[in-house]
Amino acid sequence: MISIAIDGPSGAGKSTISRTVAGKLGYLYVDTGALYRTIGLYVLRNGSDPKNEQQVEALLPKLRINMGYQDGVQQMFLQGENVTDQIRTPEVSMAASGVSAHSCVRTYLLDLQRRLARENNVIMDGRDIGTVVLPDADVKIFLTASSAVRAKRRFDELIAKGQDITYEKVLEDVEKRDYADSHRAISPLKQAEDAVVADTSRMDFEESVALIQKIIADHLKK
Ligand code: DC
Repeated sequence: MISIAIDGPSGAGKSTISRTVAGKLGYLYVDTGALYRTIGLYVLRNGSDPKNEQQVEALLPKLRINMGYQDGVQQMFLQGENVTDQIRTPEVSMAASGVSAHSCVRTYLLDLQRRLARENNVIMDGRDIGTVVLPDADVKIFLTASSAVRAKRRFDELIAKGQDITYEKVLEDVEKRDYADSHRAISPLKQAEDAVVADTSRMDFEESVALIQKIIADHLKK
């Protein structure tokens, strides 16, 4: 089985680019951020604090998290309910960042992610895929863009979804989340030594997809 790890900060376009490339290659696309988001939503729904490890750990035994695919789009199920749309709010983004700092959550999700890669050709995107989850991935890419560009993209996405938000608030959230994701003690966001860096700040979507396809093709040839 072939595994391609794509890591990078939030809003770099990882999910849309990875999903498109996976579609072209016929690989399974796994958005691991959605797993952390689903746990974040679960913790919020239970009235607990995502940053409080004890509270989060106490909730894990009753958690039922499942993934499925509908027309090639990953769907997340929480306690049997499809929460694919509900996990995309700014509130859940912050909760996901909070829960992702706890080792109990990371361990909980590790087996699930590794099993998917054992059983399928995958493009898996996240923060620690090339460093921790799939250290032996065939290709590792660190996909990034400047925080201003990433905030602008996320802002446009949220406005298109009808959310009431300002660019300044989105930029602040992006920078806060970058800081938290790269400074946490466990599995921080960091480039694997053997990862290829792809900076999409000055690229449009098609150019970014072409770049990622080229990196993958060049590496798989070797
Ligand atoms: O990629 P995303 O924005 O959907 O990720 C949501 C949060 O989950 C983000 O704050 C970082 C965290 N995350 C992580 O810690 N490890 C991963 N492999 C994927 C996401």
